[in-house]
Amino acid sequence: MEFSIKSGHPPKASCDCIVVGVFDSRKLSTPAGELDKLAGRYLDGILRRGDMEGKSGSTLLVHGTPGVAAERVLLVGLGKEAEFGEKAYRDALAAAVRALKDTGSKNITITLSELPVARRNAAWRVRQGALVAHDVLFRSDQLKSKKDNASPSLSAIAFSVAGKDAKSASTALMQGIAIAQGMNLTRELGNLPANICTPTYLAQQAQKLAKAFKLKCEVLDRARMEKLGMGSLLAVGRGSHQPPCFIVLRHLGGKARAKPVVLVGKGITFDTGGISLKPGAEMDEMKYDMSGAASVLGAFHAMATMKLPLNVIGLIPAVENMPGGAATRPGDIVTSLSGQTVEILNTDAEGRLILCDALTYAERFEPDCVVDVATLTGACVIALGAVASGLMANDDSLAAELLEAGQTSGDRAWQLPLWDDYQEMLKSNFADIPNISGSRAAGTITGACFLARFTKKYRWAHLDIAGTAWRSGASKGSTGRPVPLLTHFLMKRAGKL
Ligand code: BES
Ligand code: MN
Ligand code: ZN
Repeated sequence: MEFSIKSGHPPKASCDCIVVGVFDSRKLSTPAGELDKLAGRYLDGILRRGDMEGKSGSTLLVHGTPGVAAERVLLVGLGKEAEFGEKAYRDALAAAVRALKDTGSKNITITLSELPVARRNAAWRVRQGALVAHDVLFRSDQLKSKKDNASPSLSAIAFSVAGKDAKSASTALMQGIAIAQGMNLTRELGNLPANICTPTYLAQQAQKLAKAFKLKCEVLDRARMEKLGMGSLLAVGRGSHQPPCFIVLRHLGGKARAKPVVLVGKGITFDTGGISLKPGAEMDEMKYDMSGAASVLGAFHAMATMKLPLNVIGLIPAVENMPGGAATRPGDIVTSLSGQTVEILNTDAEGRLILCDALTYAERFEPDCVVDVATLTGACVIALGAVASGLMANDDSLAAELLEAGQTSGDRAWQLPLWDDYQEMLKSNFADIPNISGSRAAGTITGACFLARFTKKYRWAHLDIAGTAWRSGASKGSTGRPVPLLTHFLMKRAGKL
């Protein structure tokens, strides 16, 4: 797909279809009205006849509008004008691209990007445009022997903006495309089954990424991890025939002495639960348990494309959680890299066991801050559903930065408390800390409390993406979240937003 910015007069645009918005009820948006002036009120006539109300998500394809160069005009419902905001804007864009993706239109011009959205500028509208379009156009046919619809007809999308916004809009378009490509990588990795996407495969993908963008990549094998003392991480991989890998990626775009941001991604390539075996229903979805790792790789792809002037380290513990003769048993006690001993009361609470050693490893980079991303708890799906990722932090200014990045990118997070009171729920009779609390209450928070025991030396935030990283049901698949949140967080730090 080719993307471009069009400034000037869209009605004259020579393209196969021009997309204009209609408010509920039957009110043409400003760009639509301008178009209709040339068309001698042809579109208005269509609305009067009751063919389109302007309800959010609705579309109507009109052929042969008089006075308009484009062969087609797509009317897109924007919903009530008074309620038109970020969500309605994104929904309208998605509806437009969905309506046109498999029609006769090759080149389209979208004028929705001219519509004012409260507190957002043209750059934001275009960046979101690129993200939404990529999201709708993403196909998951890597492993189908016949690709669905091999050649989609739609091949070029132009966003129109006012002349004064042309420059900022083209920068924003490049950013949007970079983020979307990062998301596509995340989604492809997420969708891959665990027989292909093993820890070794993830390490190879990281190396491939490093080679393509001249990043540094190092992969620690089991022997190195044993030597370092990553006893907690290694305990998780014991039941699997797949060897564990610890991936270290470095994007060094900042000043030599600038402290890095460290991103840590949970890379469980399949989570059976281990000896604390999960129930069978929907267990296939546990192939997505490496979505945190995939989002770190996606964020690296995006920031390397944008050449962000920042130092960022990516840490990915990649492990498969299987039952087996050598697997860790409930009650086993291991020594983590930090020296703290952990009583593994439930082998299905494995994410925190691999993350804690990665978080201790992060100390050696003397980070400015550390953000970990993990499909950590089913409880987070219950609390926040598929809308917001859970955010917990030991530093409120870091939390605020991430919340803001989520809001701006449309990839939102919601903060849960990480008060010391919750720490009392983690008590072991035999080791320094158990890997689960004795009660199911506040499961997302107690998971983060466990991690907090390993992050005392730096500013740290934890994103629980169990509900947001993939969709279940008929449209099952990886979402690419929280790549937009992470990249917006980094872009803002790099002064690019
Ligand atoms: N990967 C799961 C969390 C998960 C569950 C994500 C369902 C998405 C959907 C994680 O490793 C896990 O099993 N967590 C346990 C923790 C519990 C044993 C304390 C959970 O949430 O049940
Ligand atoms: Mn688990
Ligand atoms: Zn897991």
